[in-house]
Amino acid sequence: MNISIFGTGYVGLVSGACLAEVGHNVVCIDVDPIKIEKLQTGILPIWEPGLEALVERNVMEGRLHFTTDAAHAVQHGQVQFIAVGTPSDEDGSADLQYVLAVAESIARTMQDYKVIVNKSTVPVGTADKAKARVAQVLAERGVPMAFDVVSNPEFLKEGAAVNDFLKPDRIIIGINASANSESARDLMRELYEPFNRNHERSIFMDVRSAELTKYAANAMLATKISFMNEMANLAERLGADIEEVRKGIGADPRIGYHSIYPGCGYGGSCFPKDVKALVHTAKQVGYNAQLLQAVEAINVTQKTTLFSKLAAHFGGEAQLGGKTIAVWGLAFKPNTDDMREAPSRTLMEALWQSGAIVQAYDPAAMEEAERIYGKQAGLTLCGDKYAALQGADALVICTEWQQFRVPDFAEMATPSSTPNGVSY
Ligand SMILES: NC(=O)c1ccc[n+]([C@@H]2O[C@H](COP(=O)([O-])OP(=O)(O)OC[C@H]3O[C@@H](n4cnc5c(N)ncnc54)[C@H](O)[C@@H]3O)[C@@H](O)[C@H]2O)c1
Repeated sequence: MNISIFGTGYVGLVSGACLAEVGHNVVCIDVDPIKIEKLQTGILPIWEPGLEALVERNVMEGRLHFTTDAAHAVQHGQVQFIAVGTPSDEDGSADLQYVLAVAESIARTMQDYKVIVNKSTVPVGTADKAKARVAQVLAERGVPMAFDVVSNPEFLKEGAAVNDFLKPDRIIIGINASANSESARDLMRELYEPFNRNHERSIFMDVRSAELTKYAANAMLATKISFMNEMANLAERLGADIEEVRKGIGADPRIGYHSIYPGCGYGGSCFPKDVKALVHTAKQVGYNAQLLQAVEAINVTQKTTLFSKLAAHFGGEAQLGGKTIAVWGLAFKPNTDDMREAPSRTLMEALWQSGAIVQAYDPAAMEEAERIYGKQAGLTLCGDKYAALQGADALVICTEWQQFRVPDFAEMATPSSTPNGVSY
């Protein structure tokens, strides 16, 4: 099938490469010319395990193309995916300007029936808005044309995105009944057929339910994390070991072991903004989402926990001035270079505020850190994890990368690495 994907970020690029891998002809389009230029020369804008080889192979075999030409992309695909960002607005709502801009640009040049598939995470009702926008532009053009807007939220996890896309737990497809909805349904079935060979993974539903399913999934996962962080804070004060508690509750199959690790708070481009957006959506329909607000509030506090512990260790915040703090892990989770809303950022920014110096290392996010904090005084980005310990007074591990799990403690303890003696 011919497919076009608007937005070549984490979701768009991974979706494009994976759909090409199973045999579709994919055009990925982005408004960022630098991103597209780099992709055309084989340079990926993101770090994601397995993605580079997949992109390279499918470009070489002629199934994957990159462009900034929206009209070309609209002409190419029977199916037009929208995979652009939906960042938080100031009031926590999802900013839909990019999604609606894509809907509009599809409508401006489409010449035949299109299935417009929204993959971005969007509040319930967005497909209706996109549909109205497309209809309005078509009316302005004076070319009444059939089209459908389908909701197909994405559930890939950064760090395991290729595998998640190729072997999805489920494929949620929201389609409302319309004159052509049978065609839309058939096209979506055909599109995802290669992913359903082992067993049927597609779950068809109405559009609003599909839109809410994505938020409900992220809100549930965020809830588990905040719950566990609350338990960890309690355990610490009660003299219990949260690791033992985790094993004890995870053994109950109704609870399970997934997403119940306590830590320094969730980050990334999804959980924080999606929980906020769902709270906002709830408000709009007159519902006070108390649990979700608590999940968000716990997380905001949890992201300051490492800093509080460090300050307490050194005898108060004022004592942090002039201290050198090594930070291992800058990405919001392992196997990604994504630092959006990463707990490491909350920590480092608080440290700089207190006059501390940060020496940081991350296996994948160094370029991203340079992009965000390149001009920041009080930050040294180090070439490896041990170099970050040179002269450090303390080490904080912010991301659970495998390579931080079994460090060489002898090397860490050598006086040349840590003349001041690292505090653990
Ligand atoms: N990152 C994830 O792990 C993940 C997982 C599931 C769902 N999502 C959702 O998917 C959506 C995209 O997320 P992302 O992380 O891929 O975003 P991203 O910021 O990495 O990429 C978005 C891309 O869209 C491009 N863009 C903006 N306007 C455009 C336009 N008019 N035409 C073409 N391209 C345009 C941007 O230049 C950018 O490259 C969001 O709604 C997000 O919540 C993300």
